[in-house]
Amino acid sequence: MNAFLTRSLVAVAILLISASVIAQTANPVLTVDGERGSQSLSLDALRSRLETREIEVVNPDLGRPVRYLTFSLADVLRLMDAGDAEDLVFHCLDGYEANTAAANVATLDLRLAYGEDGVPERWSPIPTGKTMTDPAPFIVISANTSDPKTFSWPFQMNRIEAISFAKKFPLTLPTGAPADGEVSRGFAVFREQCLKCHSVNLQGGEVGPELNIPKNITEYRSTGFLRQWIHDPSQFRARARMPPTQLTPVEIDEVIAYLRYMGRHKQGG
Ligand code: HEC
Repeated sequence: MNAFLTRSLVAVAILLISASVIAQTANPVLTVDGERGSQSLSLDALRSRLETREIEVVNPDLGRPVRYLTFSLADVLRLMDAGDAEDLVFHCLDGYEANTAAANVATLDLRLAYGEDGVPERWSPIPTGKTMTDPAPFIVISANTSDPKTFSWPFQMNRIEAISFAKKFPLTLPTGAPADGEVSRGFAVFREQCLKCHSVNLQGGEVGPELNIPKNITEYRSTGFLRQWIHDPSQFRARARMPPTQLTPVEIDEVIAYLRYMGRHKQGG
């Protein structure tokens, strides 16, 4: 998935004049909504309680290395009483919501970035379409991948919802499908890459159309069409608002298998 394009679709961009800015709002606040309630801490409070590590890593949206001031996201979640979450939703000021399994916090070494080049709240603007966006107050970055297909870095992030995916989106689960089969693999892809814009059984994002209610997409679109559409919608419509995916043909077929399976498990309509 092209993170850049995805973000430009949903971003309410803030135009910036200078090449590097220091955010106006002093002492930004991070909120974590967990199963046991909501907690908010200011950047100063986080800095006084957590160890900062400075790391240099390629920002996928800028395509160049940036030296970030970071906390370990695992430390942040523990401090804010959400260390045992199963899934995380990163909420961003532009309305973007990114879902990720909490296991990725460790495997991708996710970190909460709060500034650049040793200066808290200093940020390089991020290109979003034709405009530049100030990524403040926080960016969730990965210390070990800059591949947006693995993890697209949520910027302008100010709230983390620590949830159990199965509790928040129960009707999107392919209940009854073998855990290691095509349908389950397709669901894993759908959940990471499509759910932020599309709902299934009316649960999920609202940027794109619902894909199961009242008719499942596979009931009125052919497999051939879906394969091509999911690969690159702009083959059909100029200015399609859905970005091209970077899925392999096998992954695309797995997503289609998941969607077809859900057609036999309609709920919530
Ligand atoms: C950034 C938001 C976004 C993401 C991510 C996204 N879509 Fe879409 N999708 C849309 C929008 C918006 C439309 C409506 C058509 C258009 O203008 O692009 C759409 C349309 C569709 C359609 C209907 C096409 C038709 O004409 O019947 C399908 C099927 C679809 N998307 C599948 C997917 C799948 C599968 C994924 C994940 C691999 C995905 N989309 C990811 C926004 C998105």
